[in-house]
Amino acid sequence: MTEKVPTANWNYPTNVRFGAGRLAELPSACAAAGIARPLLVTDPGLASSPMVKRALDLLSTAGKKPGLFSALKPNPVARNVEDGIAALRAGSHDGVIAMGGGSALDTGKVIAFQAGQTRPLWDFEDVADWWTRADAEAIKPIIAIPTTAGTGSEVGRAGVIINEAQHRKYIIFHPKMMPRVVISDPELTRGLPPHLTAATGMDALAHNLEAYCAPFYHPLADGIGLEGMRLVKEWLPVAYRDGNNLIARGHMLSAASMGATAFQKGLGAIHAMSHPVGSIYDTHHGLTNAVVMPYVLAKNRDVIEEKMARVARYLGLAGSFDAFLAWVLELRQQLKIPHTLAALGVEAKRVPELAKMAAEDPNNGGNPPPLSAQEYELLFANAIGGRLA
Ligand SMILES: NC(=O)c1ccc[n+]([C@@H]2O[C@H](COP(=O)([O-])OP(=O)(O)OC[C@H]3O[C@@H](n4cnc5c(N)ncnc54)[C@H](O)[C@@H]3O)[C@@H](O)[C@H]2O)c1
Ligand SMILES: [Fe+2]
Repeated sequence: MTEKVPTANWNYPTNVRFGAGRLAELPSACAAAGIARPLLVTDPGLASSPMVKRALDLLSTAGKKPGLFSALKPNPVARNVEDGIAALRAGSHDGVIAMGGGSALDTGKVIAFQAGQTRPLWDFEDVADWWTRADAEAIKPIIAIPTTAGTGSEVGRAGVIINEAQHRKYIIFHPKMMPRVVISDPELTRGLPPHLTAATGMDALAHNLEAYCAPFYHPLADGIGLEGMRLVKEWLPVAYRDGNNLIARGHMLSAASMGATAFQKGLGAIHAMSHPVGSIYDTHHGLTNAVVMPYVLAKNRDVIEEKMARVARYLGLAGSFDAFLAWVLELRQQLKIPHTLAALGVEAKRVPELAKMAAEDPNNGGNPPPLSAQEYELLFANAIGGRLA
């Protein structure tokens, strides 16, 4: 292969340092973000990994006295944020380095956001202009270092946190939750096992696809979503087969960041369905999206047919909507993603509850068109039973 792993600096949608080995720039990233005493937030699985150790060593050598917080769940809950805020205060930290997959990135971002607020976290759900309730000056600076290529949370302005009492995922939003600096280093995703490469990569696809299909006028997001889908098509199977292929890992990191950049436009029913499933069954977010994707495509068919014909042309698929759907089904098979929600443990008896939650999820507003709880009931039943209506 003659292609080289690219290195680049972007200032859009934030300051991104992209390239293999760029973790080494962490101390200078702290200086750029105005952080003197960082709290590094990661998940328990990564806390003792060589890459987190390296990050801490780099910071210590540069005289930064970092703290480490890793008491968080995949699908993080409010208690994780509260404990992180306590750690931030105890160590007098003035900023957060969020390092890991979406769970660690979201938790770190929300810790930095919520530490200086006086209202409860749920008051900042991504509803209307609720974010204006926040004291923006009190938000601590954030550096994000993704170690999965999926959520794109490193370039997003939101964090997804579960309210355990309600079994509901809340999207907490504030424009200043956008990390000031992102270190996007493909070396860090090398160790992701194939099943997580697949599941997180399908999340990136879901973001680019749903943003592209959202029924709003946003040609910037449409362009990004289209190219994001192309990168997934070209490189996700390669990253899955050969985790050490840094070119594939790099392009998938880009596709993930592109998905989150594009979904400023909106998401849709894939995410509206996967949030309640993740809250109730604790399933992996990207995996859940991957399972429900074809059912949602089939449901939206009439409205998105023309758009999908354009996507199919850009991706080099022979045909239009049907060719795209066939490609998604084939990709899922290749990545060993199950075909039904039943395979993830989702039970028919909980469909009414799941459907109600999906209809109320803020992402339902971006589906072309938003669906009723009744329509979600049918969709969930189809996805559990494997019927592509
Ligand atoms: N903020 C957003 O816009 C947004 C968008 C989509 C999803 N999310 C949220 O992100 C979370 C999912 O994030 P995710 O899919 O990245 O998974 P994750 O963060 O839950 O990580 C999954 C697993 O991968 C491991 N892991 C991470 N990087 C690794 C590496 N390089 N090598 C080996 N193992 C590694 C982790 O330790 C963990 O066990 C969910 O909570 C979801 O709700 C947020
Ligand atoms: Fe997602």
